[in-house]
Amino acid sequence: MSRASAAVRDVDPPGAADYLLGSSCVERERLLAQCALLRPAAAAFIDTIPLPPDADALDLGCGPLGILDLLSERVGPTGSVTGLDTDHRMTGWARESVGQLGLGNVEIRHEALPPAAEANALYDLAHCRLLLINTTGPREILGSLAAAVRPGGWVAVQEFDWATWQCDPPHPAWNRLKDLLAGVFGGDVHIGARLPGLLREAGLTDVQATAHTYYWHPGDRYQTLLLSFAHLFRDRLLRHTSLTIEEFDSLTNTLHAHLNERHTTVRESLLVQSRARKP
Ligand SMILES: C[S@@+](CC[C@H](N)C(=O)[O-])C[C@H]1O[C@@H](n2cnc3c(N)ncnc32)[C@H](O)[C@@H]1O
Repeated sequence: MSRASAAVRDVDPPGAADYLLGSSCVERERLLAQCALLRPAAAAFIDTIPLPPDADALDLGCGPLGILDLLSERVGPTGSVTGLDTDHRMTGWARESVGQLGLGNVEIRHEALPPAAEANALYDLAHCRLLLINTTGPREILGSLAAAVRPGGWVAVQEFDWATWQCDPPHPAWNRLKDLLAGVFGGDVHIGARLPGLLREAGLTDVQATAHTYYWHPGDRYQTLLLSFAHLFRDRLLRHTSLTIEEFDSLTNTLHAHLNERHTTVRESLLVQSRARKP
């Protein structure tokens, strides 16, 4: 058991049921591929955070891996890493990843962080990635993360902002589908842009931010991510927007053809990384 175990509890927090992308094997594979894609940016980000020797680190909403491997390496064999996720299948897969990678200082728990008022400050670093964008309670989660770190410790967050997510040449089908999806996604798809302000609101200081983006071409798996999301959210789109089945089929078919045109590129969402210190 990690030294920081007492800070977690076995109940579902607000927002826990909001992860609408689910926990299918397809989603697991998507998240692991995304971990590999984002690994260099995450490593550079984590390296900027000064940690004491034997640090205790937390990855909240770790999914099937998150940045557990990077944190494990960073805190070393005498430090500890706790990975929390509120989905049983995700914690099972995270344990598999930890076993396969031989990360002896990492513990995975199917538990939630307590609300800020009930938290124990046990971590030197509390991190989450792509958790806030999928929830309706980002302030509560940041409050819990801030409360979970010791004075002088760090909260680090990585979230997308869909603002930069565009195809070139532009296409009306892209804009329509992206706008409709933003409304049913479950969280604020522009949360990345709000991170520095939200960290300040959580009572943290020394706020810093940086950002990355990526470009895709026909054949790259992320060239058609918007279409994958559209199919995953098809039922919600049909239920919660004015879109008809015929329009859905027409939009997705048209966009599929456009994204596969030889010269169509896609600029990814902006990955915003922000960190702040607890006074
Ligand atoms: C998009 S995935 C990101 C996984 C991982 N952080 C990464 O970057 O690959 C979001 C994860 O957060 C988990 N989750 C959602 N709400 C949560 C909450 N309130 N507390 C802990 N985990 C949560 C979901 O089960 C899912 O595994």
